[in-house]
Amino acid sequence: MTVRVLFVCLGNICRSPMAEAIFQRLVDDAGLSRRIEVDSAGTSAYHVGELAHPGTRRVLSRHGIAYDGRARQLAPGDATNGKTYFIAMDAENAEVLRDRFGDLPHVHRLLDFATHTPVHDVPDPYYTDNFDYVYRLVEDGCRGLLAAIRTDEGL
Ligand code: 4NP
Repeated sequence: MTVRVLFVCLGNICRSPMAEAIFQRLVDDAGLSRRIEVDSAGTSAYHVGELAHPGTRRVLSRHGIAYDGRARQLAPGDATNGKTYFIAMDAENAEVLRDRFGDLPHVHRLLDFATHTPVHDVPDPYYTDNFDYVYRLVEDGCRGLLAAIRTDEGL
């Protein structure tokens, strides 16, 4: 059986595409790409169809990770697409998910899985330009998330 992991932020150009790309790399490295599907989406339609923010692409490419996805908005089908872990970048994203889709069984904040930071919301680099700091937070969260899913799913 395949499970889905859907990373969610506001614009789907900075944080959630970064998380998608890092997590996909971790999943590939673990040999789990046939068991875990990875995607991302935004709660807003502000940037639909756009490439990821240059800051996100730059920091990913500095870490040797290619990403050419384009922004999309959350769609009703995201809530009915098999077992999906919805991974919000911050509390506001998680709230929008619940408002839009009701009581989903698996909504978490990414940094609830991080082990090296007391921060629970990924700060938005669209406003701070601090893509390096965000990369470190997101990578920490992604490692913890993969470990949790492996335990949950027996992978
Ligand atoms: P993201 O960042 O949610 O991490 O993709 C943002 C991107 C765009 C905007 C806000 C946040 N915006 O207001 O256009």
